[in-house]
Amino acid sequence: MSASEESKFSFFSRKKNVQVDESKLKIPTHLAVIMDGNGRWAKKRMLPRSAGHRAGADNLKNLCKNCGHYGIKYVTVYAFSTENWSRPESEVHALMELFVEYFDRYDPELEQEGIRVRFTGDIAGLPENIQEVCRRAEEGSKHRTRMTLIVAFNYGGRREIVQAAQKLAEKVKSGEISSDEITEEMFSSNLYLPDVPDPDLIIRPSGEERTSNFLVWEGAYSELWFSDVLWPDFGMEELTEALVAYTARDRRFGGLTEQK
Ligand code: IPE
Ligand code: IPE
Ligand code: MG
Repeated sequence: MSASEESKFSFFSRKKNVQVDESKLKIPTHLAVIMDGNGRWAKKRMLPRSAGHRAGADNLKNLCKNCGHYGIKYVTVYAFSTENWSRPESEVHALMELFVEYFDRYDPELEQEGIRVRFTGDIAGLPENIQEVCRRAEEGSKHRTRMTLIVAFNYGGRREIVQAAQKLAEKVKSGEISSDEITEEMFSSNLYLPDVPDPDLIIRPSGEERTSNFLVWEGAYSELWFSDVLWPDFGMEELTEALVAYTARDRRFGGLTEQK
């Protein structure tokens, strides 16, 4: 194998001192990431928490590039939860400002990578200027096909389920369906993004080992992978490590390995 072929198909993990053969990796169709640890990243550097959020937003650009490299089709990132409103008003405000700035600043790079942008969450519950940013980013990128970046903003898995239940209850009330016609498939098709496949792998950096109300329904059978690295430092090395772990997982979905 020539040097250039080698660099195309293998990744040398400096931290683990191992060579990863990329051609042997199992690539998830849909990867979801909980972008956690911005505050601790800033604290370690004696910077304000907002600097950590900025570094975290910058790192999202790297994640997109790295996921594009591996040919991952859908990437969902948890950017703001329905619970994050309980933070100090100044922090919530900084996060909203960063959100508005992000899509203007990085759209040319997202365009270059062929990335379509979509949003998941209680978007109607956001301030009008944020909703406008969402509409613009979705509309301006809908022709792009290489990868879809889904930003979970004002997202809560429980709220998503409650809102799906409300939609179904309305349909029962109007006589469009009867309650005994409701199936898992019908329920799924009333969630925020029914056409997006369930996440195969959910990654959470920052050392916390919980999902914090992320993709509660969709993640029922997702593989989980945790890392101690804080989100702004989460790079190609960590993503590759997660993919190596995912490749070794046996996804049985309740069945038996030998049935496959
Ligand atoms: C994640 O980083 C970003 C959001 C929740 C918006 P945090 O702000 O939760 O960072 P830590 O967990 O305090 O380090
Ligand atoms: C989860 O992180 C939400 C996002 C990363 C947007 P949190 O920092 O809000 O989660 P908890 O509070 O540690 O569970
Ligand atoms: Mg956190």
